[in-house]
Amino acid sequence: MRKYTKVAMGIAAVGALALTACGTPAAPSASAPATTGTETTAPAAGFPAGSVIGVSLPQKTSENWVLAEQLFNDGLTAAGFKPSVQFANSGVAEQQNQISAMVTQGAKVVVVGAIDGGQLGTQLKQAKDAGAFVMAYDRLLTNTADVDFYVAFDNFKVGVLQGTALLDGLAALKGDAPYNVELIAGSPDDANSGKFFDGAMSVLQPKIDDGTLKVVSGQTTFEQVATQGWKAENVQKRFDTLLAANYTDKPLHGILSPNDTLARAALTSAEQAGMTGDDWPVATGQDSEVESVKWIMDGKQYSTIYKDTRTLVAQTIEFVNQLAAGQTPEPNDTETYDNGVKVVPSYLIEPVIVTKDNAAEVYANDPTLGPLTK
Ligand code: BGC
Repeated sequence: MRKYTKVAMGIAAVGALALTACGTPAAPSASAPATTGTETTAPAAGFPAGSVIGVSLPQKTSENWVLAEQLFNDGLTAAGFKPSVQFANSGVAEQQNQISAMVTQGAKVVVVGAIDGGQLGTQLKQAKDAGAFVMAYDRLLTNTADVDFYVAFDNFKVGVLQGTALLDGLAALKGDAPYNVELIAGSPDDANSGKFFDGAMSVLQPKIDDGTLKVVSGQTTFEQVATQGWKAENVQKRFDTLLAANYTDKPLHGILSPNDTLARAALTSAEQAGMTGDDWPVATGQDSEVESVKWIMDGKQYSTIYKDTRTLVAQTIEFVNQLAAGQTPEPNDTETYDNGVKVVPSYLIEPVIVTKDNAAEVYANDPTLGPLTK
């Protein structure tokens, strides 16, 4: 059973960051790190202020990654460390080189948001051999023993919330069932994509089976609906074809989209196919991107997910502080994230579903999105 022993939400994490932000990391401790029953290993003696902390981020496929860069630079610097924060815009090889360079620089912790979590084994081994702590950030690192910890929002729960929002939106806006829907999944190289899709299908598959939902294109498997590179243009191309082939004589009621960028791409296709007014589909999303929040308030997109990047980064930096003090981060889940080699101890934060109904409340304290007026 997953248990949230610590308060998982942002207030605690941000508070913890604020406490440590103006000081320096705690002095190295000689005591052995606490064991968690899994293979997590902290650098036993901690590490001093001024240590290099590597943060390797993927491509800028959504706004959350861009925001994370600034937050890691500011937060790690304020906590007394030397951040090395890098994007791998040109792909996996660049990310591999960047992680190697971080190890060469003597990084004590390597935080990785992977483009392809299964392609970094050699570099993660280098990091472990050099004594660094390897932390998967937002996306799991797969097929390697050389990952110590995973910090993320609960990805399966994100999918469950998206599937539920789609059903709620259809019932609220599209009259009685059956409903015609189409499905989109994220990039197949991102370990999150399968979790989002599985979470959503745990809610939607029974409704497909009982005839409430009809996937008119017949594209229902992850492989059929995945979007390479999380690229909007790939969804738009797929939807242009799919709408022309299946929806010239019937309405498309709903779209399961795993994030906001792809939701806007699919809705743009729908608009270009002439859908408007009562024929406008209900679409889900994720990330609370600025443009999508506007679309939600205007009734163009039905839902999104709030995963406050400030909370995730603050929690990650809090774990770095603990490692500096010779402590091992405490997971709140030691069962869910089997990466193919081991179950990675994880700290999962609860995502929040957002529709027009609760947007003002959810974003009230967000510096970019709030305050909103209904
Ligand atoms: C993140 C999502 C994001 C997607 C595309 C995923 O791994 O969890 O928040 O929308 O990547 O950048």
